[in-house]
Amino acid sequence: MSRLTDTPARIAQAAAHLRDGGVVAFPTETVYGLGADASNPAAVAQIFRLKGRPADHPLIVHIAGIGELERWAREIPPAARRLAERFWPGPLTLVLNKQPWVPDAVTGGQATVGLRVPAHPLALALLRAFGGGIAAPSANRFGRISPTSAAHVQQELGADFGLTLEGGASRVGVESTIIGFVDGGPVLLRPGGICLQRLEAVLGAPIQTAAPARQRIRASGMLAAHYAPQTAVEVLPIGDLVVRARTLLAQGRRVAIMARSRDPRRRAMAAGADWIEMPATPAGYARRLYAQLRELDASGVDRLLVQAVPASDAWRAIADRLQRAAAAHPA
Ligand code: TXA
Ligand code: MG
Repeated sequence: MSRLTDTPARIAQAAAHLRDGGVVAFPTETVYGLGADASNPAAVAQIFRLKGRPADHPLIVHIAGIGELERWAREIPPAARRLAERFWPGPLTLVLNKQPWVPDAVTGGQATVGLRVPAHPLALALLRAFGGGIAAPSANRFGRISPTSAAHVQQELGADFGLTLEGGASRVGVESTIIGFVDGGPVLLRPGGICLQRLEAVLGAPIQTAAPARQRIRASGMLAAHYAPQTAVEVLPIGDLVVRARTLLAQGRRVAIMARSRDPRRRAMAAGADWIEMPATPAGYARRLYAQLRELDASGVDRLLVQAVPASDAWRAIADRLQRAAAAHPA
């Protein structure tokens, strides 16, 4: 695929396809989405068929700007409005009480709707050309790794399900942070592209992360095993990881290691494993993560050992995705 980004003519074609009830895969700054007209239940139903996703899982509605908030949501808490003003367009999804007309196909029959303004020029151009909301989950098959390029979308869904817009590699690389509201107070539903500290700084108040509040709201990104590669994954601190690698190698297994350590002694101790040096910063790591997992799946290694990431706010989304990838294949 040589094009880095698609043309106005292709965007217009994609918008027309959406208006006709078709499905379009499109780039966002987080991951690629699989979109349909959010006001058309039959169009939205195709998304669930293509993904193999249970129909009661709600979708995020992508909108062109904050001016469309009231069309979809009501009783908007002041905290939600502040976050939208500060972080849209951007990797933040707000789960709000829906307007009565919003189809159950989009909300999974819940009284709330997830809304986000994506920060990718092509996604915004598509939204403007289309003129409505685009319901879009990540453009992968259910439970699998989200695509961060148009080529990944084709790997997941094949070439002829509809139309895929080409917008280059996703800049953020993990999904949006999802915030819900309980009695007007913000609750983290899924860690993602914006860390809690930045959100809390704008609110001047803490965001709840406790499990009881999260359990009251359903989100498939919260399933224990999600974002899963086919290769079995273990997440370990570097010392344990090297020991584990030696054990597996001695059993004749093919082992890959996603390391943050730059210590040559560690690397030497794991000689024989495929040693992948991951970026040192959380932003760099996130951008690389899904593409790296995909590459490793294709490479045929038996086991992936991932060096645990710091237990800090900046690494929260990455730690979350790694933990879910590991939960898919209990050791
Ligand atoms: O970055 C992203 O959020 C990407 C891009 C394409 O925008 N989208 C994405 O969609 O990750 P998806 O469907 O793979 O994950 C959306 C999550 C799901 O876990 C879903 O359950 C949750 O958002 N969600 C959507 N609407 C919700 C609602 N009304 N209540 C609770 N959770 C909701
Ligand atoms: Mg997804």
